This record gives sequence, C-alpha cells and structure tokens, in this order.
Amino acid sequence: MLRQIIIFSFFVLTTLVPLTSSANGESTYKAVCIACHAAGMNGAPKFQNNRDWAPIIKEGKVHVIAEAYNGVRKMPAKGGKPDLTLEDFSGALIYMVNASGGNWSDPTEQEYIKIKNKLSKLSSKK
Ligand code: HEC
Repeated sequence: MLRQIIIFSFFVLTTLVPLTSSANGESTYKAVCIACHAAGMNGAPKFQNNRDWAPIIKEGKVHVIAEAYNGVRKMPAKGGKPDLTLEDFSGALIYMVNASGGNWSDPTEQEYIKIKNKLSKLSSKK
C-alpha cells in the first residue's frame, strides 16, 4: 500500500509540476499584461499577433525578459506591478510569446542567472 502511495505521488508530481508553471503564465497574463497587450495599447505588441512578436522573439529570451522586466520605452517595469516576481513575469511573457508564433521554454537556472546579471546592469544605468 505504502509503495503504491509513493508511486502515485511521484506520478502526480512529475505530471503536474510542468503544467502549473504554464498555467501560472496564463493567469499572470490575464491579471496583468492583458490590460495593454490584448488590444496593443500604446504600441504594445498584441497578443497572438505573430507579426508584432516576430522581431521581439528574434532578440532572444534572456535579452527580452531582462529588458521588459526592467521597463522599456512605454512598457512599464514589471508590467506596472511592483511586487511581480521575475519568475511570474517570465511565465507571462513566455505565455504571450508561445501564443504569438514563438516556442520558448521556461528559463533554466543558468538563464535566470544571465537575466539577473543583465538586470543589474540595466538598473545601474537609471
Ligand atoms: C500599462 C500597459 C502595459 C502593461 C500592463 C504591460 N505592458 Fe508590455 N508593453 C507595453 C507597451 C506600450 C509596449 C511597447 C513598448 C515600446 O516599444 O514602446 C510593451 C512591450 C512589451 C514587450 C516588448 C519589449 C521589447 O523588447 O520591445 C514585452 C516582452 C512585454 N511588453 C511584456 C509584458 C509582460 C510580460 C507584461 C505583464 C506581466 C506586460 N508587458 C504588461 C505596455 C504594457
């Protein structure tokens, strides 16, 4: 019986964990980013508009996450929500990219280190 419980828990963990991270991306998008990115307000790249997103996708995941989280031109830092974590922001961004012609996976630990390095350089310029 115990063995079955262990096997079952392992199954639940390995199948549900990847699902929750993309589901979070969707819920953060709906809570924060949708306000501007659904309609393309102020020139924001529009959700599901592959043409708007193609040049951004080309710049690469690490670069885009760092620039956008830091705030770029009319895009407010952290999507205008000061308590939004880098992980939740990245999840929402990747959700938008993948709905708009891209195919990005969640950043690896190594990529998060690079993003944080870029962020500290960007914020020291302000
Ligand atoms: C208050 C409106 C607003 C909200 C909320 C908002 N954005 Fe934006 N975003 C913009 C605008 C406007 C631009 C276009 C910036 C420009 O090029 O001038 C933009 C651009 C971007 C870009 C492209 C940056 C680049 O390199 O060109 C990304 C990525 C992005 N937003 C991600 C997000 C994510 C993720 C969220 C939610 C967590 C979010 N935005 C919430 C307005 C918003």
